[in-house]
Amino acid sequence: MKFNAKLGEITLIKCDAIVVNIFEGADKPGGAALAVDNALGGVIGDLIKSGELKGKLNEIHVIHTLGKLPARLVAVAGLGKKQEFNQAKLRDMLAEVVRTLRKHNCKTAATILPGSGAGGFTPEDSSMAIVEGCILGAYRYNKHITKSEDEHDVEQVIFLEKDASKLNTIKSGLVKGRIVAEAALLARDMVNEPANHMTPAHMAKIAGEIAGRNGLGIVVMDREQMEKEKMGALLGVAQGTSQPPKFIVLSYTGDAAKKDTIGFVGKGLTFDSGGISLKPQEFMSDMKGDMAGGAVVIAAISAIAKLKLKINVTAVIPATENLPGGRALKPGDVLKASNGKTIEVVNTDAEGRLILADALAYAVKQGLSPIIDLATLTGACHVALGDIYAGVFTNNQALADKLIRAAGEAGEHLWQLPLPDEYKELNKSDVADIKNSGGRYGGAITAALFLREFVSEIPWVHVDIAGPFMTEKTQGVLVKGATGFGVRTLIKLASDLSNK
Ligand code: BES
Ligand code: MN
Ligand code: ZN
Repeated sequence: MKFNAKLGEITLIKCDAIVVNIFEGADKPGGAALAVDNALGGVIGDLIKSGELKGKLNEIHVIHTLGKLPARLVAVAGLGKKQEFNQAKLRDMLAEVVRTLRKHNCKTAATILPGSGAGGFTPEDSSMAIVEGCILGAYRYNKHITKSEDEHDVEQVIFLEKDASKLNTIKSGLVKGRIVAEAALLARDMVNEPANHMTPAHMAKIAGEIAGRNGLGIVVMDREQMEKEKMGALLGVAQGTSQPPKFIVLSYTGDAAKKDTIGFVGKGLTFDSGGISLKPQEFMSDMKGDMAGGAVVIAAISAIAKLKLKINVTAVIPATENLPGGRALKPGDVLKASNGKTIEVVNTDAEGRLILADALAYAVKQGLSPIIDLATLTGACHVALGDIYAGVFTNNQALADKLIRAAGEAGEHLWQLPLPDEYKELNKSDVADIKNSGGRYGGAITAALFLREFVSEIPWVHVDIAGPFMTEKTQGVLVKGATGFGVRTLIKLASDLSNK
């Protein structure tokens, strides 16, 4: 999809569809919608009067112009209530618009920056949100479908602006929006990819290509190197599969003068069967996506590099499968992580915290600070917070607050859960320093408490994305399947931190 901004009037442009907007509760069209309404002989006003057009968020009416305007169609898109309007709603609305225009055989579309004045955000934020909405909403995962799609996507979107002084900031929003949205699509593609394709080696290959294209440093450790590093917890999980595990480290230096480097750590479990503690079939179906955390940190660092943010970031991804078999980890086994702590494996399905233990210990050893990890870690977090919210856990409230604020602007939802010392005893083992499951109750919390043991005092936030990494329904920027949840939040956080 191509985006372009130019000076002009929406009523004069020749294209398949023009997009105009109304707020919920408006009694008549205003701005660009009014100009279009006048050209069409008052049809938009009539639709409002008759109550057919309410301006509710994501409500879209398609009107054929029958030659009264150079454009073939007008899409009137609702923006919802004016007081509630924000960038997330703008993204969702455009996502619905591109999917609607796809059904109406539109190749070219033109829009103004909608809701001008409302929401209080800049023209750059606004054009960024529009591009993100269009790209995220039009996403399809069809690479393994041999029949070609019968509906084609909108190929070109033109932004029409009447004020020449705004054009440059709008154009820079177009560029940034594309970088951010395409990073989210990269994560979606990786998560949607079946596990027979998205192996640890394939993840490492993708990371290598990204490093090459964006000038990132890359290290990929294989089994022998992990042995040298004494990563016994990760190796324990990896011993049950014939797919070689990979420990992937990508680094971006955007400000060599700064001595701090942020660590992004992502769970890269390319398939989680549960191991010997085998999952029931209905819980196994989405487990090709158990590497979502890893995909998200790879995608985020690639965008941070493209945006040339003045910040240093290292992404660490432990990647393996978790399978049962003759060599697999057994309940009761004791492993030793690279920081010397011993772990009793009471449940081989609690493998995420095992591979993250070594990844977090590695991040600490590399001096990364702060550390943010993302993981599809617990079904308990999904049960607690549902499909939309990821759980946040921290040993540093100021850092968590920054991340939660960044997520709010990215339109991704985070909710903090506590890390009470009182629950530490649930992770106590009789035979080792700690055990890898604290049982059913508070399962997301005991998992986070386990991870905390491996970051020592470094400022750290853990994000459990087991709820939002996939979605069952297509709505707004989300398309059924992988969501890329977290990519836009991490980029926003990095951009906020680099502005200081
Ligand atoms: N990858 C799963 C968690 C998960 C479940 C992610 C559903 C996304 C959707 C994780 O490895 C796991 O199996 N966790 C166990 C932990 C338990 C054994 C302590 C769980 O949540 O059941
Ligand atoms: Mn598991
Ligand atoms: Zn898992």
